Amino acid sequence: MAVASVPGKVILIGEHGVVYGQPCLSVAIDLRVGVDIERGKEFSVNGRAMDGRRHTYIKYAIDKLWDDYPLHVTTFSKIPSASGLGSSAAITTATVACLLEMKKSFSLEEVAKKSFEIEYEVQKGGSPNDTSVCTYGSAILLSGEKMDGFIWEISKGERRWFVHHIDAPEMKIVVGMTGIKSKTPMLVKKVKKFVKYSGFARELTERIGTLALEGADDLKNKDFVSLGEKMNEGQNILHTLGASSPELEKLINASLRAGAYGAKLTGAGGGGSMIAITDEPEKVAIAIEKAGGKAIVTSISNEGVKVWN
Ligand code: MEV
Repeated sequence: MAVASVPGKVILIGEHGVVYGQPCLSVAIDLRVGVDIERGKEFSVNGRAMDGRRHTYIKYAIDKLWDDYPLHVTTFSKIPSASGLGSSAAITTATVACLLEMKKSFSLEEVAKKSFEIEYEVQKGGSPNDTSVCTYGSAILLSGEKMDGFIWEISKGERRWFVHHIDAPEMKIVVGMTGIKSKTPMLVKKVKKFVKYSGFARELTERIGTLALEGADDLKNKDFVSLGEKMNEGQNILHTLGASSPELEKLINASLRAGAYGAKLTGAGGGGSMIAITDEPEKVAIAIEKAGGKAIVTSISNEGVKVWN
């Protein structure tokens, strides 16, 4: 019997580039997911029989990590699904944390590793970014080489990612949700096609990586003006790569007009959410709502996965 709580995430700079091993800068946010696992009469989730289509990540985690008595899983989430805020990574990470705790083999690295493997297998690709942020909290920088703050590394095929911790400053983040589902595997596939056949697109993913590395220094130095400029350039690139949408652009433009330092889509895009950094979060939140989005003001969560039994 175990209970786990895990934060959602936003990517400040680096989505899509990170799939090709480019650096990516993300932070955990104060919107959390909870998972409770207890012995059950049959395998079930929130009172319904466990089903591979409805409960894909949970079932995958149980199939991979559990070969004992039936389990009853209860979930609670403050993160809307397919919103670009890491809900599937958070549910996966919380489920894995509970199962490892019940098997007495919990460690942060094991949670991060197993959660990534599950996400990778379910989504047939992707990077360990989201599951690492959900596991460790605070700010995380993924890159293709080992740097200060190194925590762990993992390879998949020809890719190798090094995961680093960054001490995150106090910072308000405004999330603007479009209400349109963001389908990560589909978006990753779409961008991959572009990158495969176009040298220009490959160069753009490299530029995203440079911006993420420079943005990590800005975050450490609390230089939000400079970080915002990099986020804006990152957004232009994501738009060019085909990851943005008219609904996202509308909320991003409204945030910038309201004085945000930087605004961009977060996660896979195509819908889902955008984020803005600003020292006037309420003003930006109102601008997002007026432009038709749903705004949430959140801050960085220094706490990653927490588990109790
Ligand atoms: C999704 O939150 C971020 C992407 O870069 C995919 C991934 O890293 O797995 C689009």
